[in-house]
Amino acid sequence: MTETPASPNSLAPQRFPVVVVGAGPAGLTVGCVLRAAGVDCLVLETGTRKFVEQRPRAGVIEEPVVRGLERRGLAGNLLERARRDTACEFRFDGGRHPFDYHELTGGHHWVYPQQFLVTDLVREYADVRGGAVRFGVRDVRVHGLDGDRPSVSYVCPESGRREVVVCDFVAGCDGARGVTRAAVAGRAGVARHDYGIGWLALLAQAPPSADRVLFGCHPDGFAGQMPRSPEVTRYYLQCPPGDAPENWPHERVWAELRRRLGAAGAEPLTEGPLIEKRVLDMHDYVTEPMTFGRLCLAGDAAHLVAPIAAKGLNLALHDAFALGDALVALLLRGDEAGLAGYSQARLRQVWDYQEFSQWLSELYHGGATGDPFRAGTALARLRRLFSSPAAAAAFAERYLGTAARY
Ligand code: APR
Repeated sequence: MTETPASPNSLAPQRFPVVVVGAGPAGLTVGCVLRAAGVDCLVLETGTRKFVEQRPRAGVIEEPVVRGLERRGLAGNLLERARRDTACEFRFDGGRHPFDYHELTGGHHWVYPQQFLVTDLVREYADVRGGAVRFGVRDVRVHGLDGDRPSVSYVCPESGRREVVVCDFVAGCDGARGVTRAAVAGRAGVARHDYGIGWLALLAQAPPSADRVLFGCHPDGFAGQMPRSPEVTRYYLQCPPGDAPENWPHERVWAELRRRLGAAGAEPLTEGPLIEKRVLDMHDYVTEPMTFGRLCLAGDAAHLVAPIAAKGLNLALHDAFALGDALVALLLRGDEAGLAGYSQARLRQVWDYQEFSQWLSELYHGGATGDPFRAGTALARLRRLFSSPAAAAAFAERYLGTAARY
């Protein structure tokens, strides 16, 4: 394990039952659950409050996650402001194929940009529930995870001095490039998958071209449209992994979107300036187990799921509910069962979502592989969604994340 002893220039250590590393959706939710139960914790975050509140990331939240936030008193603004989607539309074979999952299941997808959720969670944790948080900390390190008195140290941005916090548990919620993942790198099992596919992620300053999510499954590559607000729309275009955004000037982007999202009877796309252009290389990883001694990982620190099925934020919040509840049960009631079973229980859903992403990836991208066999099976997979009620129901359950048990 790449642990470092606490630096000798530490002040007298502070004490908290739980230190949460990272103030993303996972860390803040764990913090809010702990504070609601009266458990003290300290959240450490390398970014500033303004930075985490403005960073655009994911935006699709499953209904069961919305209900989980609501039960914990964390969904006030979301319930008021989020858009509720009722359908998506596949475009393939030159046609439009709407998939009305609300009609089929009564369920919704909620669209609420991650930075709004993070803003709500920071306010709730720090301003309403009185949780301790340090923004802008540097060089965070974890120590003594195998003993019963672990600690976390960091360099204070104001004093430049290393501070040490002794705790009972560390919640590792610092994302894909954080220190808690690195701290277990030597002994965790890490399973990875690389799709060999890139997505050009675009934000257009333009109203949506359709009032629902569009998935274009085209022989030239996948294209997607996700309404974000009346003024801004997200688009995706499949591209080679590692491609440079500069290879995608305005005209080329819109020509490809028109081609790949084109369908008989479809409205023309509403074009506008591109205000964000990034290439994402599609890959996944899963860290097993998610608990190492007194360190419990949650969210992207434990697993990354490519944005193909919009599941990353949802898994992070499911983890945070489970970890927050388990820590409360142990620290307040001495009930160890939740924490003992945390990793195994969460990994069942994590693997299920990874498998769904892979399944969906083949459906989106199979037609553009140049392999006529994969193109044929991808098309069969698409058509089955519209010819088999059982296949449609199975897709809706996974797309909406409504499976009752894992
Ligand atoms: N110490 C403290 N904080 C850190 C450190 C560190 N060494 N390294 C990173 N962080 C912070 C980041 O600045 C970020 O605010 O940890 C936070 C991790 O947040 P996310 O990356 O958003 O991860 P998570 O809470 O697991 O949420 C997963 O976020 O990756 C997106 O869209 C993805 O929806 C997914 C969701």
